[in-house]
Amino acid sequence: MDTFVIDGGRRLAGRVRINGSKNAALPLLAATLLTDQPVRLRDVPNLADIQNMLRLLRELGCEHRDAPAEGTPWSGTVTLAATDQSKSHAKYEVVKTMRASICTLGPMLARRGYARVSLPGGCAIGERPVDLHIRGLRALGAQITINEGDIIARVPTGGLTGNTIFMGGAFGSTVLGTANVMSAATLAKGTTVIECAACEPEIVDLALLLNKMGARISGQGSPRITIEGVDELGGAEHRVIPDRIEAGTYMMAAAVTNGEIILDNCPVDTLLSALDCLTEVGVHVEACNATPTTVPTRSAHRGCDDPMRCSVRVTSDRILRPVQVTTQPHPGFPTDLQAQLMTVLSLADGNSVITERIFPDRFLHVAELSRMGANLTRLGSSVIISGVRRLMGAQVMASDLRASAALVLAGLAAEGRTTIHRVYHLDRGYDRMEERLRSLGASIQRVDDREAVAAPVPAGC
Ligand code: EPZ
Repeated sequence: MDTFVIDGGRRLAGRVRINGSKNAALPLLAATLLTDQPVRLRDVPNLADIQNMLRLLRELGCEHRDAPAEGTPWSGTVTLAATDQSKSHAKYEVVKTMRASICTLGPMLARRGYARVSLPGGCAIGERPVDLHIRGLRALGAQITINEGDIIARVPTGGLTGNTIFMGGAFGSTVLGTANVMSAATLAKGTTVIECAACEPEIVDLALLLNKMGARISGQGSPRITIEGVDELGGAEHRVIPDRIEAGTYMMAAAVTNGEIILDNCPVDTLLSALDCLTEVGVHVEACNATPTTVPTRSAHRGCDDPMRCSVRVTSDRILRPVQVTTQPHPGFPTDLQAQLMTVLSLADGNSVITERIFPDRFLHVAELSRMGANLTRLGSSVIISGVRRLMGAQVMASDLRASAALVLAGLAAEGRTTIHRVYHLDRGYDRMEERLRSLGASIQRVDDREAVAAPVPAGC
């Protein structure tokens, strides 16, 4: 297993391009199951989760027409055509490694009339139920049973029927639940209204692709989405939106190292709540082609030709200020940036509070950050962060994707050496993070776990 060895205390400076969004690409890839025509996606990130999804879709009868030859570089373009409808079982072996496989359920059911998908089970950030997915598909007329750990879904004679569906749960809307029901409703008879739909940009991107394929969806990005069913969908081309969570993570890397990073292909338009919070902390995000202003971060919009894909310069005050933040469904502060923000606030001048409203147990990073000297007190679904002057390098364990990113940020800021074990968690959502951070001046190496302890001190440390 791979390990990161980081010698902290270096200021990051330079330029990185934000990749296509993992959380947009996964449901977009699943949507190719809705037609046997080729669907071409561009700017697909090269991540472990994406490779897992491509493997699953091949098992479900999708031809990957421009699959890169062994050893050739990833082009970012993926063309899939779901020509074989005879294999409709997303097995436990794949689903257990990537719970997002659940988003194949709706598309497969709607087009084939049958789907069998392993229940994803829980993960490091919580129980991860799928009751809302099942409730939404049943509202369209699907006959769903659970057997031997699998969801078995069938469409009644006559197909799915449009309905008005409330998709809210105890923690608000569901992103992949909305993706599943919205995708299935494109081929249902009549009109479907999803109330309490997820408003995430990734849902908007999925609706955009589905409409390019011939669907008739409106209201995406709002809590009420309307889908007029059609008889069939066809092929299309689409470019994946940039990854807002990756962008937010690199912004916070600039903050914890008091660096200056330019992010290209940055979707500032999807990060307003995070930008609002970072402004309060003392982070400055300005459109590169805008004249430097003292106006708060909203100026990131000013001068941006395309606020979904713009270049921004990120700098920060030397003294970071404490804040109180609660994670919420979009457009609120994203839960996927909560761990990374905790690292930033660990170094702020004062006491902050983070409250996690989406995954109340998403705090596996607390114990590890505390081992690096962070002063954190958990109270139920909140953590009080008393800022410290510096973090200290240590051996730590990655546990889930975003907690791993938080540990990398802490290692970059810490005095001394940090060794992060099990970075395979990180590879699920960040493409070659160590290479990109090294290009910004970080001292970070990826080594095999067995070598980690004896890793040589990198030159210039
Ligand atoms: C998506 O997961 C993202 N994953 C997650 O990102 C993200 O944290 C999450 O949305 C919330 O924004 C992908 O898009 C691949 P949810 P999803 O259904 O759709 C509860 C990352 O780090 N719930 O919106 O699975 C659920 O327990 C990952 O990139 C039910 O109760 O999340 C949670 O409390 C982690 N019943 C809340 O809703 C259901 O049927 C939101 O979950 C479904 C969800």
